[in-house]
Amino acid sequence: MDVEKESDMVDRRHFLKLAGVGVVAFVRPAGTVAQSPLKIGSVGAGRMGSALGGLFVKAGHPVMFSSRHPENLRDLVQRLGPLAQAGTVEQAIAFGDVVVMVVPYTALEEIGRAHGPALAAKPLVLDICNPIARRDGAELVKRVEEQGGAGLASAKLLPGSRIVRAFNAISYLRVASIAHRPGGFVGQVAASHVMTLVEADGQVVAFYNQNELHQVQPGNEVEFALKTLPGRIIKGKVDSVVWAQGQGQFLPSGNLPSSLAVQNQPPGKFAVKFDVAERDRQLFLAAGAAGDAAIYTDGLHAIHIIRKVILRVGSYLNYLILKLH
Ligand SMILES: NC(=O)c1ccc[n+]([C@@H]2O[C@H](COP(=O)([O-])OP(=O)(O)OC[C@H]3O[C@@H](n4cnc5c(N)ncnc54)[C@H](OP(=O)(O)O)[C@@H]3O)[C@@H](O)[C@H]2O)c1
Repeated sequence: MDVEKESDMVDRRHFLKLAGVGVVAFVRPAGTVAQSPLKIGSVGAGRMGSALGGLFVKAGHPVMFSSRHPENLRDLVQRLGPLAQAGTVEQAIAFGDVVVMVVPYTALEEIGRAHGPALAAKPLVLDICNPIARRDGAELVKRVEEQGGAGLASAKLLPGSRIVRAFNAISYLRVASIAHRPGGFVGQVAASHVMTLVEADGQVVAFYNQNELHQVQPGNEVEFALKTLPGRIIKGKVDSVVWAQGQGQFLPSGNLPSSLAVQNQPPGKFAVKFDVAERDRQLFLAAGAAGDAAIYTDGLHAIHIIRKVILRVGSYLNYLILKLH
């Protein structure tokens, strides 16, 4: 029996996973007065902390900068004027409605241990900290990578805090020159997108040809293998079939719909949403990762084993990277 054509068992198809973290724009236009000033505690007042905090002060927000030696920040707060003040880490955290963490990554761990509950009580913690091997050590960088990146690692270091990672990829030398100013454009073309928000909870979606779906039901067992996770079979269930695709979409216009638009295109596929099984929810599934998937419908159980073997062999083949280097 040709497994690829067997209608009972929808076989491997490419699919996408969409996941990620949100990004929030925070800086107000430089040189304007904030309409509702926010008290900001800046934990760290080095190169990046003082550059960002300086912009927040210019935007009209009171900022308390912290140092383990607050007396060393006298020049900084004098230069920035009455909205700026210096304090200890504890004082800056207590002061801020929003707390900006802008310290070496190793210090984030330490501060999380000492001030975790105080930070968890804040409405927002901005995390600017990056793990850098030459400063924080290769071992720490490896540990952060193993946890799926700094976004996830910071969430573990500051449990319960509402964290947004921001400004991480902008040099302290550039934040002042690219801060928003009144009348400035944030994109090249007015009305074009300047930001993408991606859901924190990812979704796994697989695409199937039309006739492959005739026996698929919500709750059917699912297995899939991602190229980013060689040798690993991830389990789940069918959540739902999205019974619509781009080809069924017509924009409002004065014209009657034309069948040529459909005839001239290859048939589109339908998306099936998967629910990842409890045992695999902790796995790091990279945004945009692709792979192969199988749905096991209720009929012809005897041949499911063939697809299971093919899927597993394919998953182990993902270990092969044949670039001849
Ligand atoms: N520099 C940039 O362009 C840039 C860009 C994006 C992200 N970042 C990230 O921002 C963070 C800070 O970078 P930076 O360049 O501003 O560093 P920096 O100039 O060395 O300043 C570090 C700050 O952290 C404080 N600090 C260090 N250890 C501490 C501890 N154990 N407890 C409390 N405070 C501590 C220091 O205060 P005291 O020593 O006075 O106590 C100082 O204010 C890093 O994670 C970095 O990766 C930097």
